[in-house]
Amino acid sequence: KFEELAATPQMGWNSWNKFACEIDERLIRETADAMVKQGMKDAGYQYINIDDCWHGVRDADGNIQPDAKRFPSGMKALADYVHGKGLKLGIYSDAGATTCGGHPGSRGHEYQDAITYARWGIDYVKYDWCDTKGLNAEAAYTTMRDAIRAAGRPMLFSICEWGDNKPWEWAGPVGHSWRTTGDIAPCWDCEIGHGSWSSLGVLRILDKQAPARKFAGPGHWNDMDMLEVGNGMTEDEDRAHMSIWAMLASPLISGNDLRTMPEATRRILTHAGIIAINQDKLGIPAFRAYADGRMEVWARPLADGQWALMFLNRSGQAIDYRHDWREHPIGDDVSKRSAEFGKTTYRWSDVWGKRTGDTSTKLETRIAPRSALVLRLAITNQESK
Ligand code: DGJ
Repeated sequence: KFEELAATPQMGWNSWNKFACEIDERLIRETADAMVKQGMKDAGYQYINIDDCWHGVRDADGNIQPDAKRFPSGMKALADYVHGKGLKLGIYSDAGATTCGGHPGSRGHEYQDAITYARWGIDYVKYDWCDTKGLNAEAAYTTMRDAIRAAGRPMLFSICEWGDNKPWEWAGPVGHSWRTTGDIAPCWDCEIGHGSWSSLGVLRILDKQAPARKFAGPGHWNDMDMLEVGNGMTEDEDRAHMSIWAMLASPLISGNDLRTMPEATRRILTHAGIIAINQDKLGIPAFRAYADGRMEVWARPLADGQWALMFLNRSGQAIDYRHDWREHPIGDDVSKRSAEFGKTTYRWSDVWGKRTGDTSTKLETRIAPRSALVLRLAITNQESK
């Protein structure tokens, strides 16, 4: 059922970040194969999402058809193939008359397109926001939500407005996730101009999340955009990028070439400990607990009274960091949870690494430039009961 999708943030792959319009059915099939072979499916990734530029033209009755050169076997056959691997297929459209890539959008064809997608066996619809001058965002996305529901097949609805209409304030009942910003770029702290818009590095996206935080939860997530892991950043930056998306409960939609990714990239994307934080059942995104300009401490309440803490070094220099737990209690307005490390001892384990410790002694550690240390904490003195 529509209402039951995305109880935890959706996980998958999308063609756009790496391939843009250079897509065809072979890429999609090979990506589905790779999803299984590379252990991504076992790690929890499920959706194979085709982004912009799959479209051909509408037929005489207005039915959308795929580009016959790029997708000669048709979308139904492709969905069957992907389903045969135990995965799900996603597609892309736009609330306006044309997509960002200049292909037919769904405006005026919402119900017709949703029925077409359902017939093809589509499981996920990403819905973009180009060519929408004069449209009301909430109304336009609600129309497509209703069309998807009426089509009778459970399809996850991914809202791709770029934050200008504050979707977090209204999209909870409309979609399963909504973008909070413009497009991501594969860089740490850059902003790349493209004329009328710019794409944003990892930290630039992180810095825009605060107003949206309290609106996310099971079934409706803040989408920080698709991952750029494996698309050109350093390993430390990729791990930090993955950590941030996990801590803030963003959908994890990989955006690299899964067929050829190096082992280091594969390990980052499939890391069980970091994915478990992203997929935590409570579904409460992290908040920034402490910051001094270079170092930030982010905290995420987890199920069973646990916490995840992320020590993020934003800077280009290594930091010798010393954390006195007693001086740093944390409290969260959204979950109404707090932790006083001075009173209660928590055991911690380093999620990416192997170290363990507890909060009775100071944490002293060197944090590499542009990297994140993520700890999972659980109360220990329950044992003494
Ligand atoms: C803008 C979106 O934000 C991107 O993720 C991508 O879908 C492109 N449009 C496709 O044109």
